[in-house]
Amino acid sequence: MTESLTVRDNRTGQEYDVPIADGAIKAADLGKIKTGDDAPGLAVYDPGFVNTASCRSSVTYIDGDKGILEYRGYPIEQLAEGSTFLEVAYLLIHGSLPSKVEYEQWVHDITYHTFVHENVKGFMEGFRYDAHPMGMLMASVGALSTFYPEAGMIQDADNRQMQIIRMIAKMPTLGAWSFRHAQGKPFVYPDNDLSYTANFLSMLFKMSESKYEADERLVRALDTLFILHADHEQNCSTNAVRSVGSSQVDPYSAVAAGIGALYGPLHGGANEAVLRMLRRIGSKENIPDFIKGVKDGNERLMGFGHRVYKNYDPRAKIIKKACDDVFEVTGVNPLLEIALELEKIALEDEYFVKRKLYPNVDFYSGLIYEAFQFPPEMFTVLFAIGRTPGWLAQWLELTQDKEQRIARPKQLYMGDRGLDFTPREQRWA
Ligand code: CMC
Repeated sequence: MTESLTVRDNRTGQEYDVPIADGAIKAADLGKIKTGDDAPGLAVYDPGFVNTASCRSSVTYIDGDKGILEYRGYPIEQLAEGSTFLEVAYLLIHGSLPSKVEYEQWVHDITYHTFVHENVKGFMEGFRYDAHPMGMLMASVGALSTFYPEAGMIQDADNRQMQIIRMIAKMPTLGAWSFRHAQGKPFVYPDNDLSYTANFLSMLFKMSESKYEADERLVRALDTLFILHADHEQNCSTNAVRSVGSSQVDPYSAVAAGIGALYGPLHGGANEAVLRMLRRIGSKENIPDFIKGVKDGNERLMGFGHRVYKNYDPRAKIIKKACDDVFEVTGVNPLLEIALELEKIALEDEYFVKRKLYPNVDFYSGLIYEAFQFPPEMFTVLFAIGRTPGWLAQWLELTQDKEQRIARPKQLYMGDRGLDFTPREQRWA
Protein backbone atom coordinates (compact mmCIF):
# COMPACT_ATOMS: atom_id res chain seq x y z
CA MET A 1 0.00 0.00 0.00
CA THR A 2 1.41 3.40 -0.92
CA GLU A 3 1.16 5.75 1.96
CA SER A 4 -0.09 9.11 0.87
CA LEU A 5 -2.43 11.91 1.68
CA THR A 6 -5.00 13.22 -0.77
CA VAL A 7 -5.42 16.94 -0.33
CA ARG A 8 -8.21 18.85 -2.05
CA ASP A 9 -7.64 22.57 -2.38
CA ASN A 10 -11.12 24.06 -2.14
CA ARG A 11 -9.85 27.32 -3.61
CA THR A 12 -9.17 25.64 -6.95
CA GLY A 13 -10.92 22.29 -6.69
CA GLN A 14 -7.61 20.61 -7.50
CA GLU A 15 -6.49 17.44 -5.73
CA TYR A 16 -2.92 16.59 -4.77
CA ASP A 17 -1.31 13.35 -3.74
CA VAL A 18 1.18 14.00 -0.95
CA PRO A 19 3.47 11.06 -0.08
CA ILE A 20 3.77 10.01 3.56
CA ALA A 21 7.16 8.68 4.68
CA ASP A 22 8.05 7.74 8.26
CA GLY A 23 4.72 9.11 9.48
CA ALA A 24 5.31 12.56 8.01
CA ILE A 25 4.65 14.56 4.89
CA LYS A 26 7.24 16.94 3.48
CA ALA A 27 6.34 20.57 4.02
CA ALA A 28 7.96 21.27 0.63
CA ASP A 29 5.31 19.02 -1.01
CA LEU A 30 2.59 21.27 0.41
CA GLY A 31 4.48 24.18 -1.15
CA LYS A 32 3.46 22.77 -4.55
CA ILE A 33 -0.18 23.58 -3.73
CA LYS A 34 -0.87 26.94 -5.36
CA THR A 35 -3.83 28.91 -6.68
CA GLY A 36 -1.89 29.88 -9.82
CA ASP A 37 1.58 29.52 -11.35
CA ASP A 38 2.79 32.82 -9.85
CA ALA A 39 0.96 32.44 -6.51
CA PRO A 40 2.93 31.51 -3.37
CA GLY A 41 2.84 27.85 -2.37
CA LEU A 42 0.92 26.71 0.68
CA ALA A 43 3.00 27.16 3.83
CA VAL A 44 2.76 25.44 7.21
CA TYR A 45 2.29 27.79 10.16
CA ASP A 46 3.78 26.23 13.30
CA PRO A 47 5.10 28.67 15.91
CA GLY A 48 7.11 26.77 18.50
CA PHE A 49 7.36 23.79 16.10
CA VAL A 50 4.68 21.83 17.94
CA ASN A 51 4.13 19.49 15.00
CA THR A 52 7.09 19.98 12.72
CA ALA A 53 9.93 17.45 12.46
CA SER A 54 13.08 19.45 11.72
CA CYS A 55 15.36 16.48 11.04
CA ARG A 56 15.73 12.72 10.94
CA SER A 57 17.60 11.55 14.00
CA SER A 58 18.81 8.26 15.48
CA VAL A 59 20.03 9.65 18.80
CA THR A 60 17.11 9.73 21.22
CA TYR A 61 13.64 8.22 21.22
CA ILE A 62 10.80 9.55 23.36
CA ASP A 63 7.27 8.22 23.67
CA GLY A 64 5.64 10.89 25.78
CA ASP A 65 2.36 9.03 26.25
CA LYS A 66 4.04 5.92 27.60
CA GLY A 67 6.80 7.78 29.48
CA ILE A 68 9.63 6.15 27.48
CA LEU A 69 13.06 7.71 26.96
CA GLU A 70 15.84 5.84 25.15
CA TYR A 71 19.33 6.91 24.09
CA ARG A 72 20.37 5.06 20.91
CA GLY A 73 17.71 2.48 21.75
CA TYR A 74 18.74 1.85 25.39
CA PRO A 75 16.13 2.67 28.08
CA ILE A 76 17.17 5.53 30.33
CA GLU A 77 16.41 3.44 33.44
CA GLN A 78 19.02 0.83 32.47
CA LEU A 79 21.64 3.42 31.58
CA ALA A 80 21.07 5.33 34.83
CA GLU A 81 21.35 2.10 36.80
CA GLY A 82 24.35 0.47 35.16
CA SER A 83 26.32 2.96 33.08
CA THR A 84 28.50 6.01 33.67
CA PHE A 85 28.12 9.48 32.23
CA LEU A 86 31.20 9.10 30.04
CA GLU A 87 30.01 5.75 28.72
CA VAL A 88 26.63 7.33 27.90
CA ALA A 89 28.47 10.21 26.22
CA TYR A 90 30.34 7.66 24.07
CA LEU A 91 27.07 5.93 23.24
CA LEU A 92 25.42 9.18 22.18
CA ILE A 93 28.37 10.33 20.08
CA HIS A 94 29.35 7.01 18.49
CA GLY A 95 25.94 5.35 18.32
CA SER A 96 26.93 2.13 20.11
CA LEU A 97 28.36 1.09 23.47
CA PRO A 98 32.17 1.01 23.65
CA SER A 99 34.35 -2.08 23.92
CA LYS A 100 36.71 -2.12 26.92
CA VAL A 101 39.56 -0.72 24.79
CA GLU A 102 37.35 1.97 23.27
CA TYR A 103 36.01 2.97 26.67
CA GLU A 104 39.44 3.24 28.23
CA GLN A 105 40.72 5.29 25.31
CA TRP A 106 37.65 7.58 25.47
CA VAL A 107 38.01 8.16 29.22
CA HIS A 108 41.74 8.74 28.76
CA ASP A 109 41.22 11.25 25.95
CA ILE A 110 38.58 13.20 27.84
CA THR A 111 40.62 13.21 31.04
CA TYR A 112 43.68 14.40 29.09
CA HIS A 113 41.82 17.45 27.77
CA THR A 114 40.29 18.77 31.01
CA PHE A 115 42.75 21.67 31.29
CA VAL A 116 42.04 24.94 29.49
CA HIS A 117 44.49 27.49 28.09
CA GLU A 118 45.71 29.88 30.80
CA ASN A 119 44.27 32.80 28.83
CA VAL A 120 40.80 31.33 29.36
CA LYS A 121 41.44 31.60 33.08
CA GLY A 122 42.54 35.19 32.52
CA PHE A 123 39.38 36.31 30.80
CA MET A 124 37.12 34.39 33.18
CA GLU A 125 38.69 36.37 36.02
CA GLY A 126 37.62 39.52 34.18
CA PHE A 127 33.91 38.93 34.68
CA ARG A 128 32.08 41.08 37.21
CA TYR A 129 32.12 39.67 40.75
CA ASP A 130 28.39 38.82 40.54
CA ALA A 131 28.37 37.44 36.98
CA HIS A 132 25.80 34.69 36.45
CA PRO A 133 27.72 31.41 36.00
CA MET A 134 25.60 30.47 33.01
CA GLY A 135 26.56 33.71 31.23
CA MET A 136 30.20 32.95 32.01
CA LEU A 137 29.87 29.40 30.71
CA MET A 138 28.19 30.53 27.50
CA ALA A 139 30.84 33.17 26.84
CA SER A 140 33.78 30.91 27.62
CA VAL A 141 32.52 28.01 25.47
CA GLY A 142 32.01 30.47 22.60
CA ALA A 143 35.51 31.84 23.21
CA LEU A 144 37.03 28.35 22.84
CA SER A 145 36.41 28.68 19.10
CA THR A 146 39.14 31.36 19.05
CA PHE A 147 41.59 28.99 20.76
CA TYR A 148 40.88 26.20 18.27
CA PRO A 149 40.35 27.93 14.91
CA GLU A 150 40.68 24.56 13.14
CA ALA A 151 37.32 23.67 14.72
CA GLY A 152 35.74 25.43 11.74
CA MET A 153 36.82 22.55 9.47
CA ILE A 154 33.66 20.68 10.22
CA GLN A 155 33.89 18.43 7.13
CA ASP A 156 36.95 16.71 8.63
CA ALA A 157 35.87 13.71 10.73
CA ASP A 158 39.04 13.56 12.90
CA ASN A 159 38.82 17.26 13.56
CA ARG A 160 35.17 16.92 14.61
CA GLN A 161 36.08 14.16 17.07
CA MET A 162 38.89 16.27 18.51
CA GLN A 163 36.56 19.18 19.25
CA ILE A 164 33.92 16.87 20.72
CA ILE A 165 36.46 15.39 23.13
CA ARG A 166 37.74 18.84 24.04
CA MET A 167 34.29 20.22 24.72
CA ILE A 168 33.07 17.33 26.88
CA ALA A 169 36.40 17.46 28.76
CA LYS A 170 36.51 21.21 29.39
CA MET A 171 32.87 21.80 30.26
CA PRO A 172 33.25 20.82 33.97
CA THR A 173 36.36 23.01 34.23
CA LEU A 174 34.54 26.04 32.81
CA GLY A 175 31.39 25.28 34.84
CA ALA A 176 33.32 24.91 38.10
CA TRP A 177 35.32 28.07 37.50
CA SER A 178 32.15 30.04 36.78
CA PHE A 179 30.93 28.89 40.21
CA ARG A 180 34.18 29.72 42.02
CA HIS A 181 34.33 33.17 40.46
CA ALA A 182 31.01 34.22 42.01
CA GLN A 183 32.32 33.06 45.38
CA GLY A 184 35.59 34.95 45.11
CA LYS A 185 37.49 31.68 45.47
CA PRO A 186 40.60 30.69 43.50
CA PHE A 187 40.08 28.46 40.48
CA VAL A 188 40.98 24.83 41.11
CA TYR A 189 42.84 23.00 38.34
CA PRO A 190 41.55 19.61 37.18
CA ASP A 191 42.70 16.55 39.13
CA ASN A 192 43.10 13.93 36.45
CA ASP A 193 43.46 11.09 38.95
CA LEU A 194 39.76 11.46 39.62
CA SER A 195 36.78 10.37 37.56
CA TYR A 196 34.98 12.93 35.38
CA THR A 197 32.35 13.74 38.00
CA ALA A 198 34.62 13.43 41.04
CA ASN A 199 37.04 15.85 39.38
CA PHE A 200 34.18 18.30 38.77
CA LEU A 201 33.28 18.17 42.47
CA SER A 202 36.92 18.72 43.36
CA MET A 203 37.13 21.82 41.11
CA LEU A 204 33.95 23.11 42.74
CA PHE A 205 34.65 22.53 46.41
CA LYS A 206 38.38 21.97 47.02
CA MET A 207 40.00 24.48 49.38
CA SER A 208 43.32 24.03 51.16
CA GLU A 209 43.36 20.22 51.31
CA SER A 210 45.91 18.59 49.00
CA LYS A 211 43.27 16.29 47.51
CA TYR A 212 39.49 16.59 47.47
CA GLU A 213 37.63 13.32 47.25
CA ALA A 214 33.86 13.61 47.45
CA ASP A 215 31.71 10.90 49.01
CA GLU A 216 31.29 8.18 46.37
CA ARG A 217 27.49 8.24 46.81
CA LEU A 218 27.43 11.93 45.86
CA VAL A 219 29.69 11.31 42.87
CA ARG A 220 27.40 8.54 41.68
CA ALA A 221 24.24 10.64 42.19
CA LEU A 222 25.64 13.58 40.21
CA ASP A 223 26.90 11.23 37.49
CA THR A 224 23.36 9.81 37.28
CA LEU A 225 21.90 13.32 37.01
CA PHE A 226 24.29 14.02 34.13
CA ILE A 227 23.12 10.80 32.43
CA LEU A 228 19.48 11.83 32.82
CA HIS A 229 20.13 15.20 31.21
CA ALA A 230 22.43 13.95 28.44
CA ASP A 231 19.92 14.26 25.60
CA HIS A 232 16.24 14.89 25.03
CA GLU A 233 15.82 14.96 21.25
CA GLN A 234 14.75 18.24 19.61
CA ASN A 235 14.26 20.43 22.70
CA CYS A 236 14.78 24.19 22.58
CA SER A 237 18.56 24.20 23.17
CA THR A 238 19.24 21.26 20.84
CA ASN A 239 17.20 23.00 18.20
CA ALA A 240 19.36 26.09 18.78
CA VAL A 241 22.56 24.03 18.37
CA ARG A 242 21.25 22.48 15.16
CA SER A 243 19.92 25.75 13.82
CA VAL A 244 23.18 27.64 14.41
CA GLY A 245 25.22 24.57 13.39
CA SER A 246 23.36 24.44 10.07
CA SER A 247 25.29 27.56 9.04
CA GLN A 248 28.39 25.28 9.24
CA VAL A 249 29.92 27.33 12.03
CA ASP A 250 32.34 25.57 14.44
CA PRO A 251 30.81 23.42 17.23
CA TYR A 252 31.89 25.76 20.07
CA SER A 253 29.79 28.55 18.61
CA ALA A 254 26.87 26.18 18.02
CA VAL A 255 27.01 24.81 21.59
CA ALA A 256 27.32 28.35 22.99
CA ALA A 257 23.98 29.06 21.26
CA GLY A 258 22.52 25.97 22.94
CA ILE A 259 23.74 27.19 26.33
CA GLY A 260 22.00 30.51 25.62
CA ALA A 261 18.73 28.69 24.95
CA LEU A 262 19.09 26.58 28.08
CA TYR A 263 19.67 29.72 30.18
CA GLY A 264 16.01 30.71 29.71
CA PRO A 265 13.55 30.01 32.56
CA LEU A 266 11.16 28.02 30.35
CA HIS A 267 13.88 25.52 29.52
CA GLY A 268 16.57 25.00 32.15
CA GLY A 269 15.28 27.15 34.98
CA ALA A 270 12.17 25.33 36.19
CA ASN A 271 13.88 23.46 39.06
CA GLU A 272 14.75 26.76 40.69
CA ALA A 273 11.09 27.77 40.40
CA VAL A 274 10.15 24.48 42.10
CA LEU A 275 12.32 25.34 45.11
CA ARG A 276 10.81 28.82 45.35
CA MET A 277 7.34 27.30 45.20
CA LEU A 278 8.08 24.68 47.89
CA ARG A 279 9.54 27.36 50.14
CA ARG A 280 6.49 29.53 49.66
CA ILE A 281 4.14 26.65 50.50
CA GLY A 282 6.21 26.27 53.66
CA SER A 283 4.43 23.29 55.24
CA LYS A 284 2.20 20.34 54.35
CA GLU A 285 -0.85 22.02 55.87
CA ASN A 286 -0.72 24.77 53.22
CA ILE A 287 -0.80 22.36 50.27
CA PRO A 288 -4.62 22.25 49.81
CA ASP A 289 -4.77 26.06 49.57
CA PHE A 290 -1.89 26.06 47.11
CA ILE A 291 -3.53 23.39 44.95
CA LYS A 292 -6.76 25.39 44.95
CA GLY A 293 -4.83 28.43 43.68
CA VAL A 294 -3.35 26.34 40.85
CA LYS A 295 -6.77 24.96 39.89
CA ASP A 296 -8.25 28.47 39.93
CA GLY A 297 -5.60 29.40 37.39
CA ASN A 298 -3.69 31.77 39.69
CA GLU A 299 -0.41 29.94 39.27
CA ARG A 300 1.24 26.76 38.02
CA LEU A 301 2.43 23.74 39.90
CA MET A 302 6.08 24.04 38.89
CA GLY A 303 7.86 20.80 38.02
CA PHE A 304 4.61 19.33 36.72
CA GLY A 305 3.52 18.93 33.12
CA HIS A 306 5.57 18.60 29.97
CA ARG A 307 5.15 19.37 26.28
CA VAL A 308 6.04 15.79 25.36
CA TYR A 309 5.43 13.60 28.43
CA LYS A 310 1.79 12.96 29.14
CA ASN A 311 2.82 10.39 31.71
CA TYR A 312 5.33 10.26 34.59
CA ASP A 313 8.61 11.65 33.21
CA PRO A 314 10.92 8.58 33.46
CA ARG A 315 13.76 10.85 34.58
CA ALA A 316 11.71 12.13 37.54
CA LYS A 317 11.30 8.57 38.83
CA ILE A 318 15.06 7.99 38.79
CA ILE A 319 15.82 11.34 40.42
CA LYS A 320 13.32 10.63 43.17
CA LYS A 321 15.30 7.50 43.97
CA ALA A 322 18.63 9.37 43.79
CA CYS A 323 17.30 11.81 46.41
CA ASP A 324 17.47 9.03 49.01
CA ASP A 325 21.17 8.35 48.30
CA VAL A 326 22.11 12.02 48.43
CA PHE A 327 20.12 12.78 51.58
CA GLU A 328 21.76 9.81 53.27
CA VAL A 329 25.02 11.78 53.03
CA THR A 330 23.83 15.36 53.33
CA GLY A 331 20.78 15.01 55.59
CA VAL A 332 17.23 15.36 54.31
CA ASN A 333 16.21 18.57 52.60
CA PRO A 334 13.13 19.62 54.65
CA LEU A 335 11.39 20.64 51.42
CA LEU A 336 11.29 16.96 50.38
CA GLU A 337 8.39 16.25 52.71
CA ILE A 338 6.33 19.00 51.08
CA ALA A 339 7.30 17.83 47.59
CA LEU A 340 6.27 14.23 48.30
CA GLU A 341 2.92 15.26 49.75
CA LEU A 342 2.32 17.72 46.90
CA GLU A 343 2.97 15.00 44.37
CA LYS A 344 0.66 12.55 46.17
CA ILE A 345 -2.20 15.04 46.29
CA ALA A 346 -1.74 16.26 42.72
CA LEU A 347 -1.62 12.75 41.27
CA GLU A 348 -5.02 11.99 42.82
CA ASP A 349 -6.62 15.28 41.86
CA GLU A 350 -8.94 15.30 38.85
CA TYR A 351 -7.51 18.62 37.51
CA PHE A 352 -4.04 17.10 37.09
CA VAL A 353 -5.24 13.63 36.10
CA LYS A 354 -7.48 14.99 33.31
CA ARG A 355 -4.70 17.15 31.88
CA LYS A 356 -2.13 14.34 32.21
CA LEU A 357 0.13 16.48 34.39
CA TYR A 358 2.83 14.41 36.08
CA PRO A 359 6.12 15.33 37.78
CA ASN A 360 8.83 16.21 35.27
CA VAL A 361 12.62 16.04 35.61
CA ASP A 362 12.71 19.36 37.45
CA PHE A 363 10.38 18.46 40.30
CA TYR A 364 13.06 16.71 42.38
CA SER A 365 16.36 17.78 40.78
CA GLY A 366 16.48 21.18 42.54
CA LEU A 367 16.16 19.46 45.93
CA ILE A 368 19.21 17.33 45.17
CA TYR A 369 21.24 20.24 43.84
CA GLU A 370 20.43 22.24 46.93
CA ALA A 371 21.62 19.38 49.11
CA PHE A 372 24.95 19.57 47.25
CA GLN A 373 25.07 23.26 48.36
CA PHE A 374 24.70 24.55 44.81
CA PRO A 375 23.14 27.99 44.58
CA PRO A 376 20.17 28.09 42.15
CA GLU A 377 22.20 29.93 39.46
CA MET A 378 24.32 26.78 39.14
CA PHE A 379 21.42 24.47 38.33
CA THR A 380 21.41 25.29 34.62
CA VAL A 381 25.21 25.00 34.48
CA LEU A 382 24.87 21.41 35.75
CA PHE A 383 22.19 20.81 33.14
CA ALA A 384 24.52 22.21 30.43
CA ILE A 385 27.40 19.91 31.44
CA GLY A 386 25.07 16.91 31.27
CA ARG A 387 23.53 18.00 27.96
CA THR A 388 26.83 18.61 26.16
CA PRO A 389 27.23 15.07 24.71
CA GLY A 390 23.64 15.24 23.47
CA TRP A 391 24.16 18.60 21.78
CA LEU A 392 27.34 17.29 20.18
CA ALA A 393 25.77 14.00 19.06
CA GLN A 394 22.97 15.95 17.41
CA TRP A 395 25.45 18.40 15.87
CA LEU A 396 27.54 15.49 14.54
CA GLU A 397 24.45 13.94 13.00
CA LEU A 398 23.59 17.28 11.39
CA THR A 399 27.03 17.67 9.82
CA GLN A 400 26.63 14.32 8.06
CA ASP A 401 22.99 14.61 7.08
CA LYS A 402 22.67 15.02 3.32
CA GLU A 403 19.12 16.33 3.67
CA GLN A 404 20.08 19.21 5.96
CA ARG A 405 20.16 22.74 4.69
CA ILE A 406 20.71 26.00 6.48
CA ALA A 407 17.84 26.54 8.94
CA ARG A 408 15.72 29.28 7.51
CA PRO A 409 12.00 29.17 8.40
CA LYS A 410 9.32 30.95 6.47
CA GLN A 411 7.16 33.67 7.95
CA LEU A 412 3.62 34.83 7.41
CA TYR A 413 4.14 38.52 6.75
CA MET A 414 1.53 40.67 8.52
CA GLY A 415 3.03 44.15 8.09
CA ASP A 416 2.51 47.06 5.74
CA ARG A 417 3.56 47.01 2.09
CA GLY A 418 4.72 49.55 -0.46
CA LEU A 419 4.72 52.63 1.78
CA ASP A 420 6.37 55.79 0.38
CA PHE A 421 9.31 57.02 2.43
CA THR A 422 9.14 60.67 3.50
CA PRO A 423 12.53 62.20 4.40
CA ARG A 424 13.05 63.20 8.07
CA GLU A 425 12.95 66.99 7.44
CA GLN A 426 9.46 66.65 5.99
CA ARG A 427 8.14 64.17 8.59
CA TRP A 428 9.40 66.22 11.50
CA ALA A 429 8.46 69.63 10.11
N1 CMC B 1 0.32 23.52 36.68
C1 CMC B 1 -1.01 23.72 36.46
N2 CMC B 1 -1.61 23.57 35.27
C2 CMC B 1 -0.82 23.22 34.23
C3 CMC B 1 0.56 23.00 34.37
C4 CMC B 1 1.12 23.16 35.65
N3 CMC B 1 2.42 22.95 35.86
N4 CMC B 1 1.09 22.65 33.18
C5 CMC B 1 0.06 22.65 32.32
N5 CMC B 1 -1.09 23.00 32.95
C6 CMC B 1 -2.44 23.05 32.35
C7 CMC B 1 -2.60 24.30 31.51
O1 CMC B 1 -3.11 25.36 32.28
C8 CMC B 1 -3.56 23.81 30.47
O2 CMC B 1 -4.84 23.75 31.06
P1 CMC B 1 -6.15 24.16 30.20
O3 CMC B 1 -6.24 23.09 29.14
O4 CMC B 1 -7.24 24.15 31.19
O5 CMC B 1 -5.86 25.52 29.64
C9 CMC B 1 -3.14 22.35 30.23
O6 CMC B 1 -2.54 21.94 31.47
C10 CMC B 1 -2.13 22.19 29.08
O7 CMC B 1 -1.00 23.03 29.35
P2 CMC B 1 -0.10 23.75 28.24
O8 CMC B 1 0.42 25.01 28.82
O9 CMC B 1 -0.86 23.80 26.94
O10 CMC B 1 1.08 22.71 28.05
P3 CMC B 1 2.42 22.99 27.27
O11 CMC B 1 2.80 21.71 26.63
O12 CMC B 1 2.36 24.19 26.39
O13 CMC B 1 3.41 23.36 28.45
C11 CMC B 1 4.98 23.20 30.22
C12 CMC B 1 4.32 22.49 29.02
C13 CMC B 1 6.14 22.33 30.71
C14 CMC B 1 5.54 24.56 29.78
C15 CMC B 1 3.90 23.37 31.32
O14 CMC B 1 3.41 22.12 31.73
C16 CMC B 1 4.44 24.14 32.53
O15 CMC B 1 4.44 25.38 32.53
N6 CMC B 1 4.93 23.40 33.61
C17 CMC B 1 5.51 24.07 34.73
C18 CMC B 1 6.94 24.48 34.41
C19 CMC B 1 7.89 23.30 34.37
O16 CMC B 1 7.86 22.44 35.25
N7 CMC B 1 8.76 23.27 33.33
C20 CMC B 1 9.76 22.23 33.17
C21 CMC B 1 9.50 21.39 31.99
S1 CMC B 1 10.56 19.96 31.89
C22 CMC B 1 12.11 20.60 31.41
C23 CMC B 1 12.73 19.90 30.27
O17 CMC B 1 12.37 18.76 29.90
O18 CMC B 1 13.64 20.53 29.67
